[in-house]
Amino acid sequence: MSDKVLNQFKQEEEVEVKEVTKKLKVAIIGTGWIASAYTNPIKELANVELVALADLVPGKAEKFAEKYGLTEKYNINYYPSHKELIDNEKDLDAVFVCTYNTTHAECAIYALEHGVNVLLEKPFTVTLEEAIAVCKAEKKSGKVLSIGFQPRMDENMRMIKKIVQSGELGQIYYIQTGGGRRLGIPGGTFIKKETAGVGALGDIGCYSLDLVLNAIGYPKPLTVSGYTSGFFGVNPEYVNDECVKNFNVDDFGAGFIRLEGGIILDFRIAWAMNLNTPGDTIIMGTKGSLRVPSTECWNGTFEKPMTVYKRVAGEHIEYEVPLKTTPEYLFLRKVRSFLEAVENGTEAPVPSKEILYNQAIIDGIVKSNELGREIVVEIPEI
Ligand SMILES: NC(=O)c1ccc[n+]([C@@H]2O[C@H](COP(=O)([O-])OP(=O)(O)OC[C@H]3O[C@@H](n4cnc5c(N)ncnc54)[C@H](O)[C@@H]3O)[C@@H](O)[C@H]2O)c1
Repeated sequence: MSDKVLNQFKQEEEVEVKEVTKKLKVAIIGTGWIASAYTNPIKELANVELVALADLVPGKAEKFAEKYGLTEKYNINYYPSHKELIDNEKDLDAVFVCTYNTTHAECAIYALEHGVNVLLEKPFTVTLEEAIAVCKAEKKSGKVLSIGFQPRMDENMRMIKKIVQSGELGQIYYIQTGGGRRLGIPGGTFIKKETAGVGALGDIGCYSLDLVLNAIGYPKPLTVSGYTSGFFGVNPEYVNDECVKNFNVDDFGAGFIRLEGGIILDFRIAWAMNLNTPGDTIIMGTKGSLRVPSTECWNGTFEKPMTVYKRVAGEHIEYEVPLKTTPEYLFLRKVRSFLEAVENGTEAPVPSKEILYNQAIIDGIVKSNELGREIVVEIPEI
C-alpha cells in the first residue's frame, strides 16, 4: 500500500494545555461498579473538583471514596440519594449519573431541573416515555446532557462514521448489526427488572445500535418489529443459582427496523446463545459496503480490521481498513468532552436528540414483543 494511503490513517497527537481559571464542581450519583471508571478521569483533569457522592445504600459512597483514593484529594460530602445531593450542593456544575437503569430518568430530570449539567450513563433510560421526559427537562433547563457512550471516542468507531459520511459507500439501504456473547450474563442489578428494566437489549444492544446509527447520522426509526427472550438466565445448566433465582429480564433481543430515508436495520444482541456470533455488522450501500467483524466492536473493542467492498473499473475489489489505536483511554475522552461542552456551552458530545432514537428502538422491540406485531414509533415534538 502506498505511503499516501497509509498516511491518512496516522494519529494526530492531541496535546492541549489549558490554563485552569475556575474548577468545575462535579459529583457522582450512584457509587457502584461503573462509577469507578470516572475516578481516574476526575483525578487527571486539572480543572475538575469532586465535591459530593450519593448512593442509596448507606455507607457505600464513603467506602467508594476510600477505595479509589478520593478522600486524600477532595473534600467530599456524602448523601443518601440524588435528591439530597442536588438540594444541598448549590454550586454544582455537573453530575455523573451512574445509577442502575430504572433511576436514570428521575436522577437526570432532577439535576436538569435544578440547573445542573448531566453526563448520564447508558442506556439512556428504560422506556421511550422516560427518554422523552428527560429531553423535555433538558430543553427547559438549557443545560448540557450527554449520554455515556464511550465507544464513540474510539478511533476505529470514528472511522466507521468517516467512511460512511465520505460517500464512498453511496446510498446506504441495509444494515445488519448486533453481537454479544456465547455466555456472559452479568449479575447484580443488571438481571433484575426492578433495577435494570431491560437486559441484554439495553445493556449491550444500545452500543450496537449506536455504532451504526451514529455512522449514518441517526435517522428517525419509523416502525419496529421486535422479539426478546430469556431462556438462558434461568437455566441452571448455563448460570449459577443466584442468577436463576433473580433473573427476570431478556438475554436475547432482535429487531427489524424501518428508518427514515428508506434504510432497513436488522439487529440482534445476546448475553447468551448457543452460537459464536449472530453475525458481523454490515453496512450496505449502492456504491460499496462495509463489514465490521463481529468481535466486541459494539463495546469499542476491535480485534480485526474492517473490510470495504467496492466495484472499481468494472471489477469487484475489497480492502482492509488498518486498525487504529486510540491514544487515550475512552473514559477520559468521554468525561473531558462532556466537561468541555459544559464550559463552552456547546453541544453535548453524545446528544440526547440522537440517543432518543436509540431508546425508541429498544422500547419498540420490547413493546412489539409484548404485542406480537410490528409497532409504529411515535415521538412527539420536544
Ligand atoms: N459505560 C459503560 O461502559 C458502562 C459499563 C457498565 C455499566 N454501565 C451503566 O452504568 C449504570 C450503573 O451500572 P453499575 O454496574 O455501576 O450498577 P450498580 O448496581 O453496581 O451501581 C448502581 C448504584 O446506583 C445506586 N443508586 C441507584 N439509584 C440511586 C439514586 N437515586 N441515588 C443515589 N444512588 C442511586 C445504587 O444503590 C447502586 O449502588 C447502568 O445503567 C449501566 O448500564 C455503563
